[in-house]
Amino acid sequence: MSTLFDQRDRHVFVAGGTSGINLAIAAAFGRAGAKLSLLGRNADRGQSAVATVEAGGAQARFFSADVRQSEAVSAAFAQAQAAHGPIDVLISGAAGNFPAPVLGMSERAFRSVIDIDLIGSFNVARFGHAHLRAPGAVVLMISAPQALLPSMLQAHVAAAKAGVDMLMRSLCLEWGPQGIRLNSIIPGPIADTEGFRRLAPTAQTAEAVERSVPLRRVGTGEDVANLALFLASPYASYIHGAVIPVDGGWLNGGYSVAAEAILTAFMGK
Ligand code: NAP
Ligand code: COA
Repeated sequence: MSTLFDQRDRHVFVAGGTSGINLAIAAAFGRAGAKLSLLGRNADRGQSAVATVEAGGAQARFFSADVRQSEAVSAAFAQAQAAHGPIDVLISGAAGNFPAPVLGMSERAFRSVIDIDLIGSFNVARFGHAHLRAPGAVVLMISAPQALLPSMLQAHVAAAKAGVDMLMRSLCLEWGPQGIRLNSIIPGPIADTEGFRRLAPTAQTAEAVERSVPLRRVGTGEDVANLALFLASPYASYIHGAVIPVDGGWLNGGYSVAAEAILTAFMGK
């Protein structure tokens, strides 16, 4: 158990917490003593995530909902509070991504990512609010580098995640006075995740991305979880409304190099 960032008796709700980065964050909070609520669509993935978190010694529950469906999200929060009490840490990380140029996307395709990432984060925040412990709760939005820098094939994700960060910054004004702190985390390229596989599907592209990171390695779920634990801790009690990368320096130039490699892999130019 982490003594530095002790989470005993705290309820941590992770929307999109059933795989990848968000599951790594949930598992880290679980190892630090938290009770977990994990929300996602797929029940098999949800149960497997519960088993992963419980293997680390935590209590965890899975709640099935699509973040695009407000009634289902609202019901999940009510069930989570009934199971574990008021929420101390709310993490909004459900997202969708696929590489496509604007002219290769239907309105439905563009809207699917806007709906999951942006409307989904809006639903998670607004329905989660009634269940937050206030004062004291912490909300973390899982954003992406595309929110700060555009790249080809990612217009839908850039628009959605920039919106997520501005939603968070707006809520920092509205909810700060209630003692609720909000911040966004921007993970860089993170190994063994669906997002990384979708953008760098070949070994050659993955290596190009890795070389483009100033620290010369892709990140791990644990790297992102460490930032989430810090931001949820009293050590971060004056950090509010910030958008914080955990990316090995990638946004300082490597991002554009990687974007070229990804474009070459997909478009052959
Ligand atoms: P992932 O493994 O695909 O995880 C996505 C999670 O969201 C899953 O639990 C998924 O479960 C859930 N989800 C997706 N659509 C949903 C919906 N409509 N309603 C409810 N839950 C939904 O993704 P990841 O690659 O680890 O990425 C996690 C987060 O990090 C995302 O916010 C992503 O934008 C961000 N990020 C990732 C990277 C990276 O390198 N991977 C880099 C920067 C930022 P179900 O499918 O069962 O619903
Ligand atoms: N290029 C262009 N359009 C694409 C596409 C691609 N690679 N992949 C999907 N689409 C389009 C579909 O064709 C559809 O549009 P259409 O009906 O006009 O043909 C639209 O996107 C919605 O697809 P659908 O599969 O019905 O959406 P969904 O809501 O079930 O799923 C996705 C949403 C597409 C984002 C899906 O990939 C998903 O659920 N992803 C979650 C996991 C993930 O992306 N993880 C990485 C996180 S960083």
